[in-house]
Amino acid sequence: MYRSHTCGELNTSNIGTVVTLSGWIQKIRDKGFVAWIDLRDRYGITQLVFDEDRTPKELLNQVRSLSRETVIQAKGKVIERASKNTAIATGEIEVLITELHVLNESLLPPFTIEDETDGGEDIRMKYRYLDIRRNPVKENLIFRHKVSMEVRRYLSDQGFIDVETPYLIKSTPEGARDFVVPSRMNEGQFYALPQSPQTFKQLLMVGGMDKYFQIVKCFRDEDLRADRQPEFTQIDCEMAFIEQEDILNTFEGLTKHLLKEIKGVEIENFPRMTFDEAMKRYGNDKPDIRFGMEFGELNNVAQHRDFNVFNSAELVVGIAIPGGNSHTRKEIDKLVDWVKRPQVGALGMVYCRCNEDGSYKSSVDKFYNQEDLAKWAEATGAKPGDLICVLSGDKTKVRAQLSALRMEIAERLGLRKADEFAPLWVIDFPLLELDEETGNYHAMHHPFTSPKPGQLELLDSNPGEVKANAYDLVLNGNEIGGGSIRIHDKETQAIMFKHLGFTPDEAKEQFGFLMDAFQYGAPPHGGIAFGLDRLVSILGGQETIRDFIAFPKNNSGRDVMIDAPANLDDEQLKELNLKLDL
Ligand code: AMO
Repeated sequence: MYRSHTCGELNTSNIGTVVTLSGWIQKIRDKGFVAWIDLRDRYGITQLVFDEDRTPKELLNQVRSLSRETVIQAKGKVIERASKNTAIATGEIEVLITELHVLNESLLPPFTIEDETDGGEDIRMKYRYLDIRRNPVKENLIFRHKVSMEVRRYLSDQGFIDVETPYLIKSTPEGARDFVVPSRMNEGQFYALPQSPQTFKQLLMVGGMDKYFQIVKCFRDEDLRADRQPEFTQIDCEMAFIEQEDILNTFEGLTKHLLKEIKGVEIENFPRMTFDEAMKRYGNDKPDIRFGMEFGELNNVAQHRDFNVFNSAELVVGIAIPGGNSHTRKEIDKLVDWVKRPQVGALGMVYCRCNEDGSYKSSVDKFYNQEDLAKWAEATGAKPGDLICVLSGDKTKVRAQLSALRMEIAERLGLRKADEFAPLWVIDFPLLELDEETGNYHAMHHPFTSPKPGQLELLDSNPGEVKANAYDLVLNGNEIGGGSIRIHDKETQAIMFKHLGFTPDEAKEQFGFLMDAFQYGAPPHGGIAFGLDRLVSILGGQETIRDFIAFPKNNSGRDVMIDAPANLDDEQLKELNLKLDL
């Protein structure tokens, strides 16, 4: 028996008991006549004590030869501590050791295994297994487990069936590049790893599974960010004989359940907002609605003077920074520089101070009088003491720029609180999106998303205006889920493929299996997928998903611990019929 108890459970009720513990040495303190070891395992830390009077001499000597992270087994009696530490669960006791075995030695770790470590990101990624010993990483993984167990419980209770779908498949069009796997047995051919199980879950509906879910790995070869990994996990769901309303209600239920069970937060208000409204009010299809600073469109009150920058703009739009009039001129100049950074891309920023006495002072006083500026204040909801920031230009671009500024200011003002949760449905997404580079339309969600009733006809005349039965679940300014009601008849699907630029042959080649299946009584169906990594990190009060993934990739898509991706040897390449001509 390696252990009778864990290192996190002993307390005063165990005093007098003889126990055996196993774990890693966190710390050794040696006062000469007495020494202590902090012994750590997944559950906590227990103090082991060795002293001249009560411990065999060889043991005390042995302790002096040990080093951090050595794995030991120790047996002894639980006694009351002289100086108690109420900060930890085991802080009122210690174990007086009579037997000690080294189970395995350890090299000195390259960084300290403590909550606040001296190790940088790179070294911790390389030795991720050591990083996992640290509380913050360990707690995140346990937290993730709790969330995924709660998800399983909830969906299973609602009648969803967990079905696994294959990883070696044919390309699925979710908008990113595929990771591909060469097939040894089928020379020159490749599998693609799923960007999502989208087509399979639809086939499961044709198969009559009715309510499906899966917590499943997805693979997308795309540029990485804090909220993106090349392999990530979805809570993937699909339902048959449902309408959009049923999906929204079911997954509103899941979200509320998780917030209650995991965070103890009761959500009363679960608003819905159309895509158009979200863009107009927040410049963003995933608005953080926990704070104001809503957009005020100023075309009507800013394009009647001789200020050409505004007059030539498609959109003039501003936000009011609460209390922003306290900014010095220098601080405002810094804000202007911030919006002009290439990552944001604004050409400049006009501002207007709202003085406490009700007067205004703007950077364009030459063109606008107090009456004009009062109208700006009205449109942006600015109050005395605020600062109005105004951007102008192309509608899409300027909204994105002002949205970036809004989020940055909110961050600086501490308005994005980690323990406050505001979910939101964004609905009625456009069906198609214009690809600026090619001038072609592509599916905003994916090609299986159905247009809103009666809008199919618009596809020819005004494709950009067609709205879809598509929705996103947004939490605190992050897109944590997205889905749609699907097309379930062959004809509509064929029309969609045509508009997406597939010839009938190409559509047949890529999606023939789905079109075929639709001929055998496909039920009306729809679904959603949540990004589990994102959901977990936001519930955990953070936005970097890497911290909630046991073995993540770095920003270049590398696993620096196992050193992947890596070269293949010639033998393997030959077997796969791959010739590298670099
Ligand atoms: P979508 O592409 O919107 O929909 O993906 C669903 C959710 O998955 C998460 N996500 C990611 N998380 C981490 N890293 C990534 N690279 C990444 N990409 C996406 C997001 C996103 O909201 N098949 C459809 C769903 C459906 O229609 O039912 C799909 O995959 O949180």
